[in-house]
Amino acid sequence: MIIYTDSIGGIGPTDLRGFFVGWPNPPSPDTHLRVLAGSDHLVLARDDASGRVVGYVTAITDGVLAAYIPHLEVLPEYQGQGIGTALMRRMLATLETLYMIDLLCDEDIQPFYARLGMRPATGMMVRNYARQSGASKRPWPQSTRQEDGEVSYGYPTKESCERETNDGASN
Ligand SMILES: CC(C)(COP(=O)(O)OP(=O)(O)OC[C@H]1O[C@@H](n2cnc3c(N)ncnc32)[C@H](O)[C@@H]1OP(=O)(O)O)[C@@H](O)C(=O)NCCC(=O)NCCS
Repeated sequence: MIIYTDSIGGIGPTDLRGFFVGWPNPPSPDTHLRVLAGSDHLVLARDDASGRVVGYVTAITDGVLAAYIPHLEVLPEYQGQGIGTALMRRMLATLETLYMIDLLCDEDIQPFYARLGMRPATGMMVRNYARQSGASKRPWPQSTRQEDGEVSYGYPTKESCERETNDGASN
């Protein structure tokens, strides 16, 4: 049976294995626990047979008008059983007194959120892939000089970070 809770009491890193599927530089279970502890709201889905966390959703909020939902994930072997829907329903209920609840997602998943009463919008974002694992708080260079002397501005790309990670220099 799946149990839903808004508490991380009793959860350790070993209960958080298997998440961030497909992330090239994923947070460790320890870092994942810090993400959960640092969120304003969370809902966990736990398999009561094993105690393992099989899905989670987090939100950060100003507590007055706005909230952002950065993470929703269900472990692959538990997907398609309504767990993602149940996590989102609980989170939306928690945030229901607010004016705006935002998240970013790929287009193919918009129908999933539309069924929960959300609607598509246009947004902007930064993804600093050098910080994807959450392992370091070191600031990133805002500008870099290329070999040809040109200075480029902006955030590291996924590709450049994968190169750095492979060189062992990213953290
Ligand atoms: C998105 C996610 C959380 C859904 O969790 P879930 O437990 O499988 O969802 P549910 O079982 O409640 O699915 C409800 C419906 O949404 C649909 N759906 C789920 N994931 C979908 C996806 N990635 N794209 C399109 N539709 C999806 C399902 O087909 C299902 O529809 P159906 O009942 O008509 O078959 C899960 O697929 C997941 O963890 N994906 C990887 C991480 C991710 O993409 N997170 C969202 C970031 S914005």
